[in-house]
Amino acid sequence: MTFKPIRKAVFPVAGLGTRFLPATKAMPKEMLTVVDKPLIQYAVEEALEAGCDQIIFVTGRGKGALEDHFDVSYELEATMKARGKSMALIEGIRQKPGSPVYVRQQEPLGLGHAVWCAREIVGDEPFAVLLPDELMVGEPGFLKQMVQAYEKVGGNLIGALEVAPAETDKYGIITPGKVDGALTEVLEVVEKPTKGTAKSNLMTPGRYILQPEVMKILDNPVTGAGGEIQLTDAMAQLIGKQPFHGYTFDGRRFDCGDKAGWVQANLALALEREDIGPAVRGFAQKLLA
Ligand code: UTP
Repeated sequence: MTFKPIRKAVFPVAGLGTRFLPATKAMPKEMLTVVDKPLIQYAVEEALEAGCDQIIFVTGRGKGALEDHFDVSYELEATMKARGKSMALIEGIRQKPGSPVYVRQQEPLGLGHAVWCAREIVGDEPFAVLLPDELMVGEPGFLKQMVQAYEKVGGNLIGALEVAPAETDKYGIITPGKVDGALTEVLEVVEKPTKGTAKSNLMTPGRYILQPEVMKILDNPVTGAGGEIQLTDAMAQLIGKQPFHGYTFDGRRFDCGDKAGWVQANLALALEREDIGPAVRGFAQKLLA
């Protein structure tokens, strides 16, 4: 059976990033860098690798730097060319004319509301959602692995990663059904279950492949955990009506919306780099000795 391909990737980037203040007061959280690349670029590259050709940002006030990052920077390019510097690091970022598409979430009412703001662009197609503050490192990337699984089972797919049982109240938690390799049937998904009520320790990191019907559900939103319109609550209504699976990623996840996770990502990726790895390793070894 063939399923409609996943061409559209939605990046909700309208959140306030309060856990990362003061860095995020005047700068979008998604522009925080891991080594030398902003989080949003890692996520966009992951979506392009997975075959998505329409990039959709759901932005808000103060997010202009995100738009500029994917645009032409005439002064920079002209100066670099004049000085004979390599353009390799900036040329690849620029997207094709007309992309990304930007839609606006006027108020940060929650992830479900942010995704719904992209409904006119998504239309009647299955689509991916990537939360850029969750940095996924793997070969191939997380979304590509999910798309490969989607091509076999169709329907809705969400990430399914184990967390410490004490942490389940921070995430969307899956009630698992049958397991088949990296795929787990999803029987239920609950956003931030109160302590002691989680049905598993399988959380949903920020990667989703969703059917367009979720937008119809979000037309009539309900306020969920944290007083926000939760994507999890809307997705949960598709369970039982459409195929719904969790996908366990073969790779590493860094929660870069959290300060400790972001520092860990920088350290891990810096140590792997040929150019700066040795210097960072030497320093880290001395620091820990
Ligand atoms: P987070 O839960 O990390 O929220 O959102 P946040 O507001 O960005 O950060 P904190 O918790 O205050 O530190 C997950 C993703 O959903 C987007 C965020 O931009 C982030 O990429 N989001 C969240 C929206 O686009 N709109 C919202 O209303 C909420």
